[in-house]
Amino acid sequence: MKCGLCGRNGFFYLRYSGHHLCKKHFIQMFEKRVKKGIRQNRLIDSEDHVLVGLSGGKDSMSALKILNDITCKIPSARLSALTVDEGIGGRNLEKARQYCESIGVEHHTVCFRDYYGFDIDGVLGKRKADGVLACSICGVLKRNLMNEWAGRHGATKVATGHNLDDEIQSAFMNIMRGDLPRLGRLGALVGSGAHEGFVPRIKILRECPEDEVRQYARALGLPHTNKCCPYAKTSLRTTVKEMLDGLEGSHPGSKYQMLRSVDSLCAIMRERHVGQAPGVCGRCGAPTANRVCKACLILERLKVVP
Ligand code: FES
Ligand code: ZN
Ligand code: ZN
Repeated sequence: MKCGLCGRNGFFYLRYSGHHLCKKHFIQMFEKRVKKGIRQNRLIDSEDHVLVGLSGGKDSMSALKILNDITCKIPSARLSALTVDEGIGGRNLEKARQYCESIGVEHHTVCFRDYYGFDIDGVLGKRKADGVLACSICGVLKRNLMNEWAGRHGATKVATGHNLDDEIQSAFMNIMRGDLPRLGRLGALVGSGAHEGFVPRIKILRECPEDEVRQYARALGLPHTNKCCPYAKTSLRTTVKEMLDGLEGSHPGSKYQMLRSVDSLCAIMRERHVGQAPGVCGRCGAPTANRVCKACLILERLKVVP
């Protein structure tokens, strides 16, 4: 099929709108949408130091590429990247470092082993039978590490590669767990003005479906790893993902409609909790809505702290 804009060979078919686009117009459409989201949600200020959480996968590498294009033109802004090595066998973190080097972005790596004193394979690999959900535990610890590291190194925003699919999956998981207040913590900009110990997180790919991010990375030849987390097979997120993919397959456009519903729910939940600033964890001092933060509870559960 031919591109609906220029007549060249089609590269990507937007099922939900019925348009075929050539490579050039697909890249243009993708970047225009991301930049519009950044402007509308005021995700970046000219004085920002943006730290990208760089796993080396298609999402974070695409986010880094676009953020680099933007911040290159703002002399007062700074961009750097942090790769967290959770200690999962077979993961290739070299591509992240090499890509940063090739585009001149400062890159750092922090290991769970150095930071927490253990790695995921060592602690969770043995505990799968206990019903310990590796990916959700890993996610909390990674967020905790990124936030602390970002604050210590003067970053004013943490950018993650979360795409549209990730966002609606998170919303569904919160609903399934009966945790509606957490819906208020979704959105393109999370934690702005919440607490001085919390570095706001931005999700610049939040309006982009996962398959489009994959094609964007492919179209530009961005180096990235395709390996999924080996623990993800049993996660609730995978079950929710399969359900949402099935819905999109039979009803194209469902994911976008769900994102709009998530936005509305998110606004309602935020309104409800307005003025309720989070406190700090009694053990580690990190911002949290509870007496003890989730990371400390997990570390205690894993018995890696006395
Ligand atoms: Fe870290 Fe699955 S264990 S993402
Ligand atoms: Zn075209
Ligand atoms: Zn804590």
